[in-house]
Amino acid sequence: MTAIEIAPELSTRLDSVIEDETGIFLSRQRRSDEMSERARALAGGATSSWQVAEPHAVWLSHGNGSRLYDVDGNEYSDFHGGYGVSLAGHNHPAIVEAVRRRVGLGTHFAQPTEDSIVVADNLAQRFGQPLWRFGNSGTEATMDAVHLMRAATGRDLIIKVEGGYHGHHDSVMVSVLPEDVGDLGPTDAPIGVPDNIGIPQATMDLTLVVPFNDLSAVEAALERHPGEVAGMIVEPIMMNAGIIHPEDGYLEGLRDLLHAHGALLTFDEVKTGFTVGPGGASGRLGATSDLVCVAKAMGGGLSTSAIGGGAVMELVASGDYQQVGTFNGNPLAMAAARAMLTEVLTDDAYAHLDRLRERLRGGLQAAIDRLDAPWIVVTAGAKGCVSFLPQPIRNFRDFRSLDGRYGHAHWLVQHNRGVFLPPWGKVEQWLISVQHTDADVDRFVANFDHLTGSLLGSS
Ligand SMILES: Cc1ncc(COP(=O)(O)O)c(C=O)c1O
Repeated sequence: MTAIEIAPELSTRLDSVIEDETGIFLSRQRRSDEMSERARALAGGATSSWQVAEPHAVWLSHGNGSRLYDVDGNEYSDFHGGYGVSLAGHNHPAIVEAVRRRVGLGTHFAQPTEDSIVVADNLAQRFGQPLWRFGNSGTEATMDAVHLMRAATGRDLIIKVEGGYHGHHDSVMVSVLPEDVGDLGPTDAPIGVPDNIGIPQATMDLTLVVPFNDLSAVEAALERHPGEVAGMIVEPIMMNAGIIHPEDGYLEGLRDLLHAHGALLTFDEVKTGFTVGPGGASGRLGATSDLVCVAKAMGGGLSTSAIGGGAVMELVASGDYQQVGTFNGNPLAMAAARAMLTEVLTDDAYAHLDRLRERLRGGLQAAIDRLDAPWIVVTAGAKGCVSFLPQPIRNFRDFRSLDGRYGHAHWLVQHNRGVFLPPWGKVEQWLISVQHTDADVDRFVANFDHLTGSLLGSS
């Protein structure tokens, strides 16, 4: 499916907004441009391929509170949130103090420190899973989850959702953003497509792909492969395709179906954990799974991740499954995570996030209503996005029909007026931090109003 056709006048306006705003962007980002030129020893001129954005990467100097500063001296309200990490905002006193204290005591031993007990207890209470282990990134957590589902069942196949991202290990780098690859197969039984070069076909063959919000497709996959499916990994609220909420009964139905076939369910809460609510999206929705993966916001800006569960994690406790890593439970990351979970993410903080979300949602909706724009504001806790489509979407195929120029135009308009959104505008979501204020939200709304006027206002 290609993007939904938009009226010729609107299409022309979109192109001209992108052209004008790109010009403004380039004129404001001269030092960033020089940095990209200087970064010859950095492959591709950035530190991750997903930091390479059009027209070029924006190089930052520092952050403070809700604000970011680039190397050209421009200030932004940070709604990028480092792809969902910066829920504490920047330079948060509790994180700074915890890290400062820990640095003076040594930052790495590859032996456990007391903070890891507090962090594990806190996670157990938030997510209702009794046993936890740590890693360093979301990728490591979901990789352990896939390994553990296989280890616990003695089966090889896993199921993932079309358009879902779970990190960059082979088993899940399948059908992440399968755009422009021709035939994706029937909607209820998508063909798995590798999302990078270097993924062996033998690994691809072990990953079955289903659409989000479609229980019958999962049932069909389980029935096509009786006794072969170890489990399914899924975000309880799907991100990386804007935001797609699960339909009523979907998450419970998944767990029941998988269990009925002797398979397991993993919730990937790398993005939704903490940002959607104190106990993640599953906590907000009252859904349960066999394993939970968290990362991103957990470390208050330091890299850490965790995997939690009950019976399946007994395989780790018993030593049958070796969950390992030199930096697992790194003291510096644990000190920051402890401060994040016990001092930053309080009930008051969540009340603040909820209030700001509603202010932002209300402001954007008013801008949409003013010009009768056919767009939808979708939120989940501190995260949200504008879906530039006239109807709610329920899976990745719906999402594909979204014209990518909207997200890019929105990103540029916000960026040039002091709001930093994630560069992958169509795919990503904003994040509000505990240090954001009404002024940040109002700036976002004013910029969106500007975009709406440029695209739909009378000429
Ligand atoms: C849902 C989800 N799972 C896993 C990952 C991988 O996390 P990391 O980039 O820390 O490896 C991401 C990253 O964006 C994610 O969004």
